[in-house]
Amino acid sequence: MAFPTETVFGLGADATNAAAIERLFEAKVRPGDNPLIVHLGTVADWPLAAAEMTPHAEALLAAFAPGPLTVVLPKHPSIASTVTAGLPTVGLRVPSHPTAAAILREAGVPVAAPSANRSGRPSCTRWESVLEDLDGRIDAVFCEDADGVGIESTVVDCTGEVPVVLRPGAVTLEAIRAIVPGARAAGETTSASDEVRSPGVLHPHYQPRAKVRLVDEPPSDNVIAPERTAYCGTVGNTWTSSLIHTATFATPDDYAAEFYEFLREADRKGAELILVQRAEPVGIGEALLDRQRRAAGQS
Ligand code: TXA
Ligand code: MG
Repeated sequence: MAFPTETVFGLGADATNAAAIERLFEAKVRPGDNPLIVHLGTVADWPLAAAEMTPHAEALLAAFAPGPLTVVLPKHPSIASTVTAGLPTVGLRVPSHPTAAAILREAGVPVAAPSANRSGRPSCTRWESVLEDLDGRIDAVFCEDADGVGIESTVVDCTGEVPVVLRPGAVTLEAIRAIVPGARAAGETTSASDEVRSPGVLHPHYQPRAKVRLVDEPPSDNVIAPERTAYCGTVGNTWTSSLIHTATFATPDDYAAEFYEFLREADRKGAELILVQRAEPVGIGEALLDRQRRAAGQS
């Protein structure tokens, strides 16, 4: 079943039921080496999914849960090994979206929920987009939109000496350092083990059918056919307003909230090229820029 969260739609299944998890990977056509996040109704339910709570995870959950944060902890044996792609760790998240929270509390089991999109495609923030990718492959979708953030949770490995941000999100490194000063981003040191800890980042992600090109400023010349080109950013001009699909966002929060749906709508309108103005890498912009780069196939 697909349900809205405050980040993107999740596709949920009982994390202790190996057959259900197998169907979930099939529905998304997801590579088996990319682990799933386990969702809980309340922080107090953590013993259902993790074998141990670490002081860093406890502090971060106290500060940011329920909300767009995933903490990686040692895995509980009852979680199917396919959920964690064979890793000894599990990602835990407690969403703040009221519908997600109600479903998870009602479920009473830990719920593995990857983003509810075909693997490799942009995540979904509207229920219609979930059906576009998964109709006929899933049991149900809640006909309500995701709310607010628009890009996936911050994933933080809390199993080591310092928390390591494996995937940036709305909970910024700066905010995490305000709670645990030693926290760092993956790749900040030469430790090769970061890659091993988050294998999912190796696969293509967030890519529309159209080619995505990142730009610093909106182009003003007419070198590209406007009927096959889309543009999104924080600044537009006369040329960008003539394109097949265009959007200028007033704030970084709006840009992040609408980015995936913009890519999908550009595809629906038949765009062949999507020009994406790079987000300023401050606040939510850091996570948005990460998604923009991946959409463009740059990382
Ligand atoms: O906001 C979100 O996190 C959304 C909503 C539905 O909650 N979910 C989501 O799931 O984005 P998914 O499957 O699209 O992304 C899961 C990410 C991947 O980058 C994966 O590698 C990482 O979390 N991850 C999951 N378990 C992990 C683990 N044990 N160790 C390291 N990384 C893990
Ligand atoms: Mg995903």
